[in-house]
Amino acid sequence: MKALKMTRYGDINSSLEFQSAEIPIAKASEVLVRMHAASVNPVDNMMLRGELKSVRREVFPVGVGRDVSGEIVAVGKNVKGYSPGDMVFARVGEEHVGTIAEYLTVDVAHLAPKPENLSHSESAGIPLVGLTSFQSLIKIADLKPGEKVLIHAGSGGVGSMAIQLAKSIGAYVVTTTSSANVDWVKALGADLVIDYKKEDYLQLLSDMDVVFDTLGGQYALDAFKVLKTGGRVVSVKGALDPQTAEELGLGWLLRKILALKSRKLIKAAKAKSGLYRMVIMEANGEQLRELGELYQRRILSPVIDKTYSFDQSKEAFSYLASGRAKGKVIITMDGMTEEQ
Ligand SMILES: NC(=O)c1ccc[n+]([C@@H]2O[C@H](COP(=O)([O-])OP(=O)(O)OC[C@H]3O[C@@H](n4cnc5c(N)ncnc54)[C@H](OP(=O)(O)O)[C@@H]3O)[C@@H](O)[C@H]2O)c1
Repeated sequence: MKALKMTRYGDINSSLEFQSAEIPIAKASEVLVRMHAASVNPVDNMMLRGELKSVRREVFPVGVGRDVSGEIVAVGKNVKGYSPGDMVFARVGEEHVGTIAEYLTVDVAHLAPKPENLSHSESAGIPLVGLTSFQSLIKIADLKPGEKVLIHAGSGGVGSMAIQLAKSIGAYVVTTTSSANVDWVKALGADLVIDYKKEDYLQLLSDMDVVFDTLGGQYALDAFKVLKTGGRVVSVKGALDPQTAEELGLGWLLRKILALKSRKLIKAAKAKSGLYRMVIMEANGEQLRELGELYQRRILSPVIDKTYSFDQSKEAFSYLASGRAKGKVIITMDGMTEEQ
């Protein structure tokens, strides 16, 4: 089979190449999936640049890509509830990274049935950003109906999903984006869209119950300026907080270094009697199944910016790396036009 592989750390052109590889064999708790579509995420570009070295040790060549939508072609001997012919989607675990390929194996615990009303291209854009939003807003922030949430970068892959999820909970949603994206981000359901090219959200907002920070750096710290007392700041880009570092099982020395990096955030949270947590999303088939049902009921809708063919995969990486994607960037193994 053909697979996109990373052969070294570097930029997109120097580190990625198509190679032939053996079709993998499903272990006892795995399924073999024939890929129909994948999506790219910023973490894939971070991996190429070597920014995940402290948490992943690569043995080159190594597969790339974490989102899957496809058809099961074989199941391991302990797999229950799935059969060949089933259409599924997943965010694969880190040990299965390599979804930009014709086939791959997926742990059954990370799998969910593909929503029947979505195409494979639409489904492939959901798992990583969907689980990120679900785990951040529902599991960690515990967002409640009627609460006010600020979601930064509403036009991104994560933001366009998080706006819809927060609205489905019944929250009042404020988001930031640039002028060109204001109208379509509003159409996703945001109650207030702040054009960061023209307005300063720090001057406009106060008393937010939750801030979902997708930008990191100063944005994570500034979140506390618009947070109400007792509010929650959840970041997917800020510094790793001590609790998350411990839950990830990081070593003592690394945890000490990280604690220094997050100390201003922890101090700011304390001053507001609030919470600061960073989320490192995890593959989770049960949560993905819940999200899939929201698509099936048309409460959530996929947001796709561009779709690339398998052969154009490097272009998909480059487009995402521009930082200007509007929703998801998809790679289809089926060609550009696809039946529902
Ligand atoms: N910790 C985790 O588990 C986890 C999981 C998923 C993602 N992430 C991280 O979350 C971040 C977002 O991911 P993504 O998939 O949404 O990325 P993305 O799709 O590449 O985000 C692109 C979007 O960001 C917007 N943007 C850029 N700068 C902005 C600013 N200053 N204010 C408002 N919007 C801005 C852009 O809109 P404009 O063109 O209008 O500026 C664009 O639409 C990434 O850094 C990613 O690594 C972390």
